[in-house]
Amino acid sequence: MTALSGSRTGARVERLPLSRFTTIGVGGEAEVWTVSDHAQLAEAMAAPYRILGGGSNLVVADAGLSERVIRLSGEFAVTDLSPGPESTQGQLITGWVGGGVPLPGLLRRLRQAGLSGLEGTVGVPAQVGGAVWMNAGTRYGEMFGGLHTLEIATPESVRQLSPSELPWGYRDSAIPRNHIVTRVRLKLSYSTPEAVGAKMDFADLARKGQPKMRTPGCAFKNPSDGSGGKVSAGQLIDAAGLKGSQMGQAMISPDHANFIVNLGGATAADVHALLELIREKVGIRLELEYELWP
Ligand code: FAD
Ligand code: EPU
Repeated sequence: MTALSGSRTGARVERLPLSRFTTIGVGGEAEVWTVSDHAQLAEAMAAPYRILGGGSNLVVADAGLSERVIRLSGEFAVTDLSPGPESTQGQLITGWVGGGVPLPGLLRRLRQAGLSGLEGTVGVPAQVGGAVWMNAGTRYGEMFGGLHTLEIATPESVRQLSPSELPWGYRDSAIPRNHIVTRVRLKLSYSTPEAVGAKMDFADLARKGQPKMRTPGCAFKNPSDGSGGKVSAGQLIDAAGLKGSQMGQAMISPDHANFIVNLGGATAADVHALLELIREKVGIRLELEYELWP
């Protein structure tokens, strides 16, 4: 076993199986740095690293990773929804919300407080930073729509920027890999708990057909239909007759063909084999939505 590097600044450094942090439940070991403030983060970024969010879009290799894996905690997991000076009568510009805050819990708070702007992201089991990095969302809205300011850390600097400085696309933010979204300020409208709740419940209805088992969400992005819309990758995989296909303990969900699920004891190799099968059998080229580590 490799010796742990240890931390000068008080970051927690542990060798852990990443299967513990991924929603599919696969992944070998890595040196995990749990950081609570900027000094600890700067130390963690001093060697090759990857940043882990909610692990809800990741397939980590069974052999694990040689890079450090950084997890945001402490001041990066705090939610301050109090109004900032830019707020107006109709619009709330919040204080800082940490990149390590779980998105589902944040949405519950917005629902209770009647704050509108992120309803379309309901049901995305991400952390705020990961959801911003991917511009996660649904046809009812994306993370981008609720952002006012981003704070991004790299080994060289920590800077703040407006989301309008970046292009935002479908499951894409243009934030370079390993630029860490440490905190954001949100731009929300004052509404009522009933109205916000109704919008969330409506967006959530689209998830009725999604499997309830361990999964990293949709495997492939929906390809363009050639006229500005999207075709469901799930529908294409379904039409290729692949629902229920199994490799080891991983299966293409019989409920929704764009979801690979863990039947219990699946490995990353099982998931890779299913991704290959899909690529081989579906006639058109599909772009992977999952991140494969490494
Ligand atoms: P991770 O999976 O941990 O990491 C994904 C990528 O984000 C990695 O490159 C990682 O390095 C990077 N990252 C993580 N945190 C940060 C950070 N703080 N700063 C910079 N980069 C970071 N997605 C949708 O868009 N819409 C959906 O409707 C949807 N439904 C899902 C349903 C289920 C049941 C599941 C399991 C997943 C679903 N997903 C959906 C996929 C997933 O939730 C999103 O891709 C999400 O954005 C991943 O965020 P995460 O925090 O889990 O990131
Ligand atoms: N369909 C099939 N067979 C299947 C799956 C879907 O025929 O196996 C059909 C459905 O019947 C429906 C159409 O395809 O007519 C669209 O399906 P769905 O409404 O489930 O939407 P999707 O395009 O497959 C997208 C996102 C999901 C998001 C849902 C709900 C992508 C890749 N997927 O799925 O996002 O939750 O809409 O808003 O954009 C994710 O990105 O990880 C993800 C889960």
